[in-house]
Formats: sequence, C-alpha cells, structure tokens
Amino acid sequence: MASVIDILRERARRRAHRMVFDYIDGGADDEATLLENRSAFREYEIAFRVLAGIEQVDTTTSLFGQPMRYPFFFSSAAGNRLFHTQGEVAVCTVADELGIPYSLSTLASTSIEEIAALNTGPKFFQLYVWKDRGLLREMLERARAAKFNAMLLTVDFPVTGNRERDLSNGFTIPPKIGLRQALEAIRRPAWTWDYLTSPPIRYANLSGNVSATTLNQFVAEQLYCGFSWREAEWLLGEWNGPSGIKGVVQADDAVHAVATGFDCVIVSNHGGRQLDTSVPPLRALPTIADRVGSDAEIVLDGGVRRGTDILKAIALGARCVSFARPYLYGLAADGVAGVREAANFMAASLERDMMLAGVGTIGEITRDLVRLKVQSV
Ligand SMILES: Cc1cc2nc3c(=O)[nH]c(=O)nc-3n(C[C@H](O)[C@H](O)[C@H](O)COP(=O)(O)O)c2cc1C
Repeated sequence: MASVIDILRERARRRAHRMVFDYIDGGADDEATLLENRSAFREYEIAFRVLAGIEQVDTTTSLFGQPMRYPFFFSSAAGNRLFHTQGEVAVCTVADELGIPYSLSTLASTSIEEIAALNTGPKFFQLYVWKDRGLLREMLERARAAKFNAMLLTVDFPVTGNRERDLSNGFTIPPKIGLRQALEAIRRPAWTWDYLTSPPIRYANLSGNVSATTLNQFVAEQLYCGFSWREAEWLLGEWNGPSGIKGVVQADDAVHAVATGFDCVIVSNHGGRQLDTSVPPLRALPTIADRVGSDAEIVLDGGVRRGTDILKAIALGARCVSFARPYLYGLAADGVAGVREAANFMAASLERDMMLAGVGTIGEITRDLVRLKVQSV
C-alpha cells in the first residue's frame, strides 16, 4: 500500500518540473544504493514486547545536548526554493512546530542569517569542504554569529556523484531553460508559475563569492577532494564547538573521526547520490555503534520512511535518525503544508509503532528489539 510519503512523492512528481523531481528522487549510476538503503530495513524484524503497561509513549531525546521532541530531524538539502518558493523557510517552520532541530545546507537558497531570524529551536549548519580556507572560515564565523548549535561536516562528497537522471535532463542549478525544459515547464504550470513569479534562486550562503549563474562551476572548482583528517582537525579547531561528521560507513573512519574530535557520527551515504553500490547506512550501523557508540552520538541517515525504520535504527545503535526525501517530496508537492504532512506522518507512525512494539521511551528501544530475519526468536 502507498504511505503518506509515497503519496507525497507522486504529488511532487505531478507538480514539479521533471528535472527538479528527478534531482530530488534520483541517485547515482544504476541507483542500486538508493534501493538498498531502503531494503536494508526489511532485513530486520521487530521482536515486539507485550503487556508493557504503556498508556502513552515519550518520544523525546537530545542531540548535542539539544532537546528534540522526536528522535529525528530533516537532513540538510541544497536549493530548497527550487522545489517550492517557500523553500527552507517552510522546512524550518515545520521543524520548529514539531520541536526538532533544523539543519541548513551550505548550498541552501536561504541564508544563515534569514534562518537564524526565523528559527526558534536548535539548529545545525552543514558544511562542504571548500578549497578556499577563507571561505570555510567565513562560513563558520557566520554560523557561529547566528548561534547555530552544531556544525555538520559532509565528507562523502569529494566530487559530485554520477547522477544520470540529472545528466539526461540537462539539470543545472539554477536551471537552464532550453527547448526541452520549456516544453516540460508548460506541462507543470503550478511549479512554473511559482518559479517565474518568485525572486531568483540565490545561493544565499555563497552570494558574496559567486553569482548564482556560475554555481555548478563554482562547486566543481571549489570542492576540495584533497581534504584530509589533518585538515578536519584544523577545521574543528576553527569551529571550536559541537560537531558531527556526515557520510561515514567504515567503522575505522568512525573511530578516526572520534579521535579527531567529532562529537557525532552521521552514518550515511548521501542518500545513494554519491558512490553507487556503497554500503547502506543501516548495514554499517551495528559495527559503528559497537566501536564508537560509547564515545560519540550516532545518527542514521538514508532510506528512513516509516516509524518502524526509526525503531530499527535506534535499536541498532543510533541516537536518532534524519531523512531528506520524505520532507522534500512534501515541499515539492505543497510547500509548508506538504512538509508538515510528511513530518506528522513520521511522528504519528513512530508513536504508534512504539506502542505496538511495547516501548514507552526512546531509551527502551534496545538491541534485543530487532532480529535479523534468519535468527530465531
Ligand atoms: C535533493 C537533495 C539535496 C541534498 N543536498 C545535500 C546538501 O546540500 N548537503 C548534504 O550534506 N547532503 C545533501 N543531501 C543528502 C541528504 O542530506 C541525506 O544524506 C540523504 O538524502 C538521506 O537519504 P534519504 O533522502 O533517503 O532520507 C541531499 C539530498 C537530496 C535528496
């Protein structure tokens, strides 16, 4: 059956320009990892508990010492205003309503300062590694001044993955409208009207350094594939605050990250958008949790679509999860109302699934709650 997220995906597909929908929906190469990120959750079953005497569940937890009403947050994603004119503002608004942190992408179309003026809850700033150390320092300085609570360094993006849907659609940020794109724009009037009548998409955190028309080229030129552990240590010194490393699947890398000074490891493969056939986060999680779980907070990111997925990730060692496509489908389908629909679905499904699984608090979601399918109970 179709979940609310599946329905929002279909609505996004019908409303958004094809190249925009495919940018959200697609993955790298054959999209094998995109599918595996999801199917990994099916490898586990929940050994639910009964007669636990639970009348109400408590979903609260924390990350970086920041309170969260639910054990999830929205993964950072670039250029939200391309999906719907309400963009990052819609996503941040729903995060605040729900009592969960907001995480802003370096490549957001709304600035660090605009988000800081709007947001009332905890907020994280996601950073890509640029060649220009001055630019890195400037971004950290702006995030610090705007009182972002933590920095998340994305490390699975030394170069852009081979996203063949984007190549075949001629997708660029901002979009170049050739004949094919113009014909598709006519077929998607709601998206096109929105796009044409809103202020031009601005890469708000890079605007001092780059004009939007050269963004793709800027990213290709500025991404620093030579970034190393030693430079990560330098960066942590510059930030001097709570930090997470986003895009780890090797347990040795997680150990290295903790030794370097990261407080949090985000087990992620960028939602299958970078290296295809890479390890799905859920399969990497138990070993990483065993190695660093007592020294760092762990977040699972990739393929989370239902409450049972959240239960499984937490049981296998994550403190919480994050997800992108569910709320991005909502945004592309219907702006703030769509993001809210996606978020409420995830929250309600977690509450119901905790009740069904016989767990009253996040702390009660322990490893014995899940079994690999082949094990007997
Ligand atoms: C459209 C889109 C844009 C993204 N942009 C960024 C980004 O700017 N920075 C980043 O670290 N990750 C980015 N990601 C990756 C997400 O943060 C996250 O790791 C991934 O999408 C999680 O998988 P899920 O979509 O299956 O939940 C993006 C993902 C999507 C779908």
